[in-house]
Amino acid sequence: MHTVTFDSANGIGRICIANPPVNALSHHVMHGLADGLAQFEADPSLHALLIYCAGKTFVAGADITLFDDPAFDASAFNATLARLEAQPRLVVAALHGTALGGGLELALACHYRVAQSGTRVGLPEVKLGLLPGSLGTQRLPRLIGAGPALEIMLSGKMIDTQEALSCALVDAIRDGTPLDIGMAYTSELLAHNAPPRRLSQVRMPDQVHASAIETALSQAQQQPHYPAKQAIVACVQAAVSEDFETGAAVEANAFKTLLNSPASRALRHLFFAQRVAAKLPQNATSTSGLAVETVGILGAGTMGTGIAMCFLNAGIPTVLVDATAEGLQRGIGLIESTYASNVAKGRLSAEQAQAILQRLTTSLDDTALAECDLVIEAVFENMALKQQVCQRLGHICKPSAIIASNTSTLDVDVLAQATGRPGQVIGMHFFSPAHIMKLLEVVRGEHTAPAVLKTVMDLAKKIGKTAVVSGVCYGFIGNRMAEVYMRETEFLLMEGATPAQIDNAVQALGMAMGPCRMLDMAGIDVGAKTVIEYGKAGGLPPDPSYRAVVQKMFALGRFGQKTGSGYYRYDGRTAHPDPETERIAAEVARAHGIAKRNDISEQEITERLLYPLINEGCKILEEGIAYRASDIDVVWTAGYGFPDYQGGPMFLAEQRGLAHIVQQLEHYARSRGNPYGYWDISPLLQRLAQQQHSFASHNLV
Ligand code: COA
Ligand code: NAD
Repeated sequence: MHTVTFDSANGIGRICIANPPVNALSHHVMHGLADGLAQFEADPSLHALLIYCAGKTFVAGADITLFDDPAFDASAFNATLARLEAQPRLVVAALHGTALGGGLELALACHYRVAQSGTRVGLPEVKLGLLPGSLGTQRLPRLIGAGPALEIMLSGKMIDTQEALSCALVDAIRDGTPLDIGMAYTSELLAHNAPPRRLSQVRMPDQVHASAIETALSQAQQQPHYPAKQAIVACVQAAVSEDFETGAAVEANAFKTLLNSPASRALRHLFFAQRVAAKLPQNATSTSGLAVETVGILGAGTMGTGIAMCFLNAGIPTVLVDATAEGLQRGIGLIESTYASNVAKGRLSAEQAQAILQRLTTSLDDTALAECDLVIEAVFENMALKQQVCQRLGHICKPSAIIASNTSTLDVDVLAQATGRPGQVIGMHFFSPAHIMKLLEVVRGEHTAPAVLKTVMDLAKKIGKTAVVSGVCYGFIGNRMAEVYMRETEFLLMEGATPAQIDNAVQALGMAMGPCRMLDMAGIDVGAKTVIEYGKAGGLPPDPSYRAVVQKMFALGRFGQKTGSGYYRYDGRTAHPDPETERIAAEVARAHGIAKRNDISEQEITERLLYPLINEGCKILEEGIAYRASDIDVVWTAGYGFPDYQGGPMFLAEQRGLAHIVQQLEHYARSRGNPYGYWDISPLLQRLAQQQHSFASHNLV
């Protein structure tokens, strides 16, 4: 089957692109377009050329996999676009689905654009650390002005057809198949003798656009980790001040530089990592999944209400149950105030909020959950309570219902047994605030049925979550790795590093917030209780200095932001260094015989926080808890503030070299001592480093 075909009807030549799933611009598509154009040029009897696509969408961009090919070169495609635009006969694009990136640039080289209702258009390259490299930075400002073009290119957001029509990005909106609307619109243009329009020939009066460019530049300069932003502004500056050819050369140079930039490599890695994370083993993909029409939630606390809003927002009727009237009322109040604030901020209309709230049913009687297709428990984190609740759910929920737990630390397999239907049980570990945070860890238990796993992963996509599958272990993927990060934070504090020194070091790497600020915000009481509970369950190493600082802070009532002091002292939300923390850390250190040092460097801090975390990631991989290293990167970038332009901890490890990570882990084992095995290196990491293999060689699915 050819990916691009040419035919004609009613005096109109037609190029159809069919390259599933998203008609990305592969080598075949680019050659096919050039061939189709040549056939049109060779037939003088035709009056116009129409370009449209088969399948669910117009071209959704360049094939991103091509960017890793060192021989990649956009110039041949750009030459085809120039030839298209130069045609003396009309060239029209019929858009549907999503016309993105190279797809929109193809449409911009055509003389007119008609779009099916519901089409969305955009230039999302910036999200991949790139700029629109097929003259998008030159043609779009010439069509809609520098300000609106910068807004589209710097945000990478899609706009809908109405907005595209109002800024003349599309010329008409029609209902019908792409071929039908394209033919009808082209015939109309021909009937009206519409002239070809060539954006490359438009000259822009530069002073009109100066302030938009200046504003965009100063914003882009504040985000130096995303060099694509400044490059886009520079290209638009060239579009307004230079002729088309000069601007095109500026764009081509900038594109080449960005293509090889570390940020773009990292962002491209994450694009595919996020999609691969949704891929399941064969036994799950071959099932059809179960229908989930109503969701029930038990426990209307912080998490239960947030989770309820996820489903309500996605249009799914939701039943919220709590054991106490007070708990339920507080939950309802939280949900109502969230929607009221969204209305006040103009994010929702009052009618939309009303319609969403109508999907919510609340009850103090748990039998209200009996007919739900999925029930998620979000009661207090207590094993005895959760076991009792799961047993009850197993009793009251209809036999086909899936029972899920939002536990952060408890053994999902034990809870599954309590329900009496372990095959129907799964973990759904949402992050707080659940209606905002993108990440969802989906925890497959020992007996979770493949159809249940598939159902929950499909549902996760429907509610807009980035879902990653984890096996059962303490803390699952994210919190298990965070534990070693916190462990080293505390040892560094005891050795004499200040909270600000530690936070600044990892923030310089791009982490949204350092560990001390993070724990102060989340609550030192919450963190300490988790450590204490884990100790009671026999999970901690026999090391009395293990996370001794957080436990001391807890004992002193320094719970963080909420009590005005924790690792820092607070004025409202503003953190100030607090000498008392250093005194407490020094006292704890003395009690455990840990010597104070004055030579702790930024490099040591970042390596001691990150390399054990990477090592733990490798252990998670070799135990089969995560299917692939790239899933771990998705967890850390979507849920833990790891900078996307670093690609995630496992990607960062590969960039620095696995052998280097091993060498530094060995170095710290020697210099810090290793009586409790903290620096024991994962055999998988050792092996991959020795063989110079990548993590991808160990993908389990
Ligand atoms: N190049 C290569 N593959 C692409 C692609 C591209 N530009 N865009 C999407 N794909 C692939 C995905 O990897 C996925 O492959 P898989 O099924 O093997 O996992 C498949 O197409 C479907 O994509 P997905 O994102 O899961 O589908 P969707 O319907 O949710 O979203 C889009 C469709 C087009 C909106 C979305 O894929 C997207 O935003 N693509 C990127 C667009 C872009 O950045 N273009 C500019 C490139 S420079
Ligand atoms: P919470 O204390 O805010 O709410 C718990 C709610 O459960 C309360 O409203 C309580 O009345 C209700 N409840 C208790 N027993 C019940 C019962 N038998 N039947 C019905 N309702 C009952 O707790 P939370 O912070 O929302 O945490 C809930 C779960 O989510 C815990 O397992 C926790 O580990 C997990 N979790 C919390 C976070 C977080 O950041 N808070 C993040 C991820 C996961």
